[in-house]
Amino acid sequence: MTVNRQWLLARRPTDKAVREDFEYRESEIPDASNLAPGHVLIRNQLFLHAPTMRNWMDPASNSFYPTVGIGNPMLATSAGVIVKSNNPRFAEGQRVTAITAWEDYTILNADVWPVRPVADELSLVEAQGPVGMNALTAYMGVVHVGRPKPGDLAVVSGAAGSTGSIAGQILKILGCRTIGIAGSQDKCDRLVSELGFDVAINYKTQDVEKTLREIAPEGVNFFFDNVGGDMLQAVVENIAKFATIVLCGQIAGYNDGVPVPGPRNMMRLIYGSVRAEGFLLGDFEEQIPEGTRQILEWIRAGKMVHREDVRSGFDSLPDTFSDLFTGSNDGTLMVVTDEEARTRP
Ligand SMILES: NC(=O)c1ccc[n+]([C@@H]2O[C@H](COP(=O)([O-])OP(=O)(O)OC[C@H]3O[C@@H](n4cnc5c(N)ncnc54)[C@H](OP(=O)(O)O)[C@@H]3O)[C@@H](O)[C@H]2O)c1
Repeated sequence: MTVNRQWLLARRPTDKAVREDFEYRESEIPDASNLAPGHVLIRNQLFLHAPTMRNWMDPASNSFYPTVGIGNPMLATSAGVIVKSNNPRFAEGQRVTAITAWEDYTILNADVWPVRPVADELSLVEAQGPVGMNALTAYMGVVHVGRPKPGDLAVVSGAAGSTGSIAGQILKILGCRTIGIAGSQDKCDRLVSELGFDVAINYKTQDVEKTLREIAPEGVNFFFDNVGGDMLQAVVENIAKFATIVLCGQIAGYNDGVPVPGPRNMMRLIYGSVRAEGFLLGDFEEQIPEGTRQILEWIRAGKMVHREDVRSGFDSLPDTFSDLFTGSNDGTLMVVTDEEARTRP
């Protein structure tokens, strides 16, 4: 490769991000002849589409989100290989996952940004799939944040997606009864037949609040929420005494430019002595080896399945990103820009 292909943020989207919000540029490969201490040059080979990247396209606000400057490469979760290193923790040739940008080459300080080595037995697709950021988020959210009890009635929103599908399977492994919410009949069928949910609710054709009242009259003990807004409201209206709500994401509001409102009826949480807790995967850096080991063990034992939706081509990055918001991704959505990312070394 002789140039550094990049997708720059050209303007701030006002709704779903579209191709016109980005500008394609070819620039020189960054000069890595004098890397500062701690810095590495990464050749990106795969990009994971994460819904929260839509938040990073918004203007700087008083939120916690990082903001991408207009004219800068779009920040992205990625996987690739270290081609030059001035960091004793990373040798040249080491494959890594990282937060880099929509570009072929990125220089960053690996002591400041999250850069994680990829085990030899995994392809880069596997490193961002079954044991990638979303699977680990599901593990941390269920096991370390929520800590459900066997027998709990657990609900997962965004249940057919990358994070939700793993959260639901972990809840089942831990002995919970599980209800998954998703946006099509196909996905709902798969929740039950493939992912082991006891019941599925299609939020596009069913009234979630009413359906939950009918199928779970004793109330919901545990809620893993990827969506927020109306979905959170519907579960709060059905929440059981001493329940736990794990706030993982609020995708319902990411395209709106304003945060999605919280539940109207907060008194239900007070009278129900309910614990609602938000978290970020980054809070659990130390537990990542444990989560990775455990998920791989469950997969090898046939207790867990994982689905990846892997597309190809640097050119497709802006268009494929919007699939997260139409529900047309079928599992963990990634774009491979070097076919090597699909195979184990
Ligand atoms: N806290 C953390 O550290 C952390 C880390 C990773 C991800 N997350 C969060 O986890 C959630 C899921 O992310 P993911 O990467 O696993 O994506 P994903 O679930 O694989 O894909 C997104 C799915 O969300 C659903 N969706 C989109 N817009 C929606 C809307 N307006 N209302 C209801 N559902 C909608 C769609 O499924 P349907 O067809 O079912 O609508 C879509 O397929 C996001 O909120 C994300 O921000 C949090």
